[in-house]
Amino acid sequence: MSVTKINKIAVLTSGGDAPGMNAAIRSVVNTATYYKMECVGVIRGYNGLINGDFTPLNRNVVGNIIQRGGTVLKTARSQEFFTKEGRQKAYQHLKAQGVDAMVVIGGDGTFTGAKVFMSEHDFPIVGLPGTIDNDLVGTDFTIGYDTAINTVVDAIDKIRDTAESHDRIFIVEVMGRDSGLIALRSGIAVGAESILIPEARFDTKHVLKQLEMADRNDKTSRIVIVAEGRGDCNAFEMKTAINQKFPTFDVRVSVLGHIQRGGKPSAMDRVYATRMGVGAVEALIDGHKGEMIGLVNQRIKYTAFEDAIKHINVDEVGSYWVRMMEVLSM
Ligand code: F6P
Repeated sequence: MSVTKINKIAVLTSGGDAPGMNAAIRSVVNTATYYKMECVGVIRGYNGLINGDFTPLNRNVVGNIIQRGGTVLKTARSQEFFTKEGRQKAYQHLKAQGVDAMVVIGGDGTFTGAKVFMSEHDFPIVGLPGTIDNDLVGTDFTIGYDTAINTVVDAIDKIRDTAESHDRIFIVEVMGRDSGLIALRSGIAVGAESILIPEARFDTKHVLKQLEMADRNDKTSRIVIVAEGRGDCNAFEMKTAINQKFPTFDVRVSVLGHIQRGGKPSAMDRVYATRMGVGAVEALIDGHKGEMIGLVNQRIKYTAFEDAIKHINVDEVGSYWVRMMEVLSM
């Protein structure tokens, strides 16, 4: 690929925030500085582009942010960027700022927006996978996923203590609108008795069957993890179903919610974000555009936006994981 002369890079975070986004911003800025480019941050994702909300970034500004959760650039889910007029305004602001290329950090909505924008404007954009959901194709881990599953594991270990003490069943709902990967890995890490994810077939009936067997085995506490995306197995409805079938069981529901998105990024997220940030700037210099910079088997991998946003389906989550769940759950 040809080497492209870039003088000024914009960076933004968009969609749900994820721990490690700040590490990624820092890495992009420091790498751009190393290659003698200017860098500018966009506040509140694509909304900031439309409103011309830019902030200068340099090594000093991004100092001491690697360890912070959230995103110092703030984030948003922009409706206006879905309109042609909105994207036109964004382009004009980028040009007025003298920006030649952009790094967007986010998930599928972010990459979809970037792809549409690039189909209308000759403007190079590359993306970094920033979402706790880990639901992008072309990277082993997205920025934020490792921290989020560690937060979930920490919370459920605590829930397990009280569940054991009171002989209770806990149904724990975790995030993942379209993906069960937070539920799956954290569920395996805490030894959950049941894990319900959108990609696999286990449902409330399956949990009731497990409980019947557990009753015979005298097991008195259980953790059932349900991914938010499993709309057909809502945690509160499941509680009602369990209460109806087993009136003596003591069932509680815990929805972990947005604590999963906050907190200091884990070492792994910081390192991944940093490597990807360097990869993004070097990709732009090498003439890449319209691609996500991921890490697969510890190597940088470029994936076209349209492929990155194809959600991992049950085949890709794989019979391996489904079989693991079958073997482990009792
Ligand atoms: O960041 C992804 C995600 O955490 C999804 O798992 C979840 O459904 C969604 O964000 C919720 O985000 P918000 O409450 O910000 O709309």
